[in-house]
Amino acid sequence: MTQPGSDRVLIFDTTLRDGEQSPGCSMTQPEKLRVARALAELGVDIIEAGFPVASRGDWESVNAIAREIHGPTIAGLARCNKDDIETAWRALQDASRPRLHVFLATSAIHRQYKLNMAKEEIIRTAVEGVRRARALCDDVEFSPEDASRTELEFLAEVVEAVVDAGATTVNVPDTVGYTVPEEFHDVFAYLKRHVRGIDKITLSVHCHDDLGMAVANSLAAVRAGARQVECTINGIGERAGNCSLEEVVMALKTRESFFGLTTGIQTNRLYPTSRIVSQITGMPVPRNKAIVGENAFAHESGIHQHGMLRHHSTYEIMRPQDVGLSRTSLVLGKHSGRHALRERVKELGFEIDEAEFARVFEEFKALADKKKELFDGDIEALVMRAESGAPGPWLLEAVEVTTRSNAAALAKVRLKHVDGRVLEQQTSGDGPVDAAIKAIEQITAVAVKVSKFELHSLSGGEDAQGEAVITVEHNGRGYRGTSASTDIVEAAAHAFLEVVNRIESTRLTAERNGGERRADPPAVAAV
Ligand code: KIV
Ligand code: ZN
Repeated sequence: MTQPGSDRVLIFDTTLRDGEQSPGCSMTQPEKLRVARALAELGVDIIEAGFPVASRGDWESVNAIAREIHGPTIAGLARCNKDDIETAWRALQDASRPRLHVFLATSAIHRQYKLNMAKEEIIRTAVEGVRRARALCDDVEFSPEDASRTELEFLAEVVEAVVDAGATTVNVPDTVGYTVPEEFHDVFAYLKRHVRGIDKITLSVHCHDDLGMAVANSLAAVRAGARQVECTINGIGERAGNCSLEEVVMALKTRESFFGLTTGIQTNRLYPTSRIVSQITGMPVPRNKAIVGENAFAHESGIHQHGMLRHHSTYEIMRPQDVGLSRTSLVLGKHSGRHALRERVKELGFEIDEAEFARVFEEFKALADKKKELFDGDIEALVMRAESGAPGPWLLEAVEVTTRSNAAALAKVRLKHVDGRVLEQQTSGDGPVDAAIKAIEQITAVAVKVSKFELHSLSGGEDAQGEAVITVEHNGRGYRGTSASTDIVEAAAHAFLEVVNRIESTRLTAERNGGERRADPPAVAAV
């Protein structure tokens, strides 16, 4: 069981559960494992790995993380019913430090419209859920969903009942991002004052960002005694997202003299972890995002630059290297050797093994032949590509396009299947990307609806690599593919093929498993 000292705030990361619930952010099992490894290196105390009953895929990912990731506590979410709790426990039980996280909504709105339960029934169900979970696991967290809109006295009653029933952490969520800092501070202060036994457990905070106050509300709760903050990398999550891990951690660190609290986060891993999550989820980080945005440490105005040259503390409250941002204007090229590349990869915060490095170096040389100068963005893209290795049966062998003004574009695409078949198709389209996508659809017989196609440059210069991100819908699910190349049609074709490969592997896994367990758990808990 994870117990903080009074001046230590536990960081509970829910990127893989609440973060993954945000539209377009779903991840495959290998991707979730990569994120979990990065979170462990970052030093988070608890990783919420998923909601095991939601689907077979979720169950398998939680189970794989529980078995493979050591160090942090691994949590799995469950509603307060037997099936959810037992399913979550089966997924978690191999973890070195498992935690069952059970939840039940408590607000009047949820009681009336979602659960159709009276107050007494809520307390009974919550207590039964916690007892059932405690019978399986020593570390049990309870969350009264929509706590911030729950009557204070009733909230305190629920919290006291679950503490009595054996909960070791009680998390107070602002599920709909409704509260404001002073108000939420008072909620925690009230619970501290009125709940018998509250000092035996860890009090936790979980905020959503609908009004842009998730970080401020979390810090207000910490000021009132919360010693666990639930958050996600880059603040991804339902709707406007969750409390951003990097922001809350750097606020505690930068203003340590004010808060008097510490975390166990290796802050120099914040930037690389943010890049990994952004790349895997396809969710770009806004340029002006605090801590990890591209402009977070850029100084444009002359007055600021002048001050910075005199002393960095004039306009800088944190050093870029404190968050792992070691970007430089250092440029690598085709004469750069293995040593220079290895150093740069390390400075950018990546730790890759020899086999991966050999692949990155080979691709680096190929890219340096096409492009004079390679910037940090290019190197990051090469490392990410080597690390991701999207699974699937199809490989792009060649793509050739012809475009003319006022005429349809033509694309000839050649693909190789793992079974040895090599197939070629020529198709016309509304522009070269459309033509290439249609040719791939015809060869693979996978038809999709492209919902988003984004293209952006990874560095400056006319020979910059273009990164293509394609999001599609297929059979009611969203899939995403990403690729970078100096040839943007090739980047788009690779990104689209990644999508096709993901669809094919999902289909094959579902066939092997005899279909998904349950796509979407019912909103109402069956007890
Ligand atoms: O926002 C919320 O209430 C949640 C709970 C399940 C903790 O995510
Ligand atoms: Zn949430």
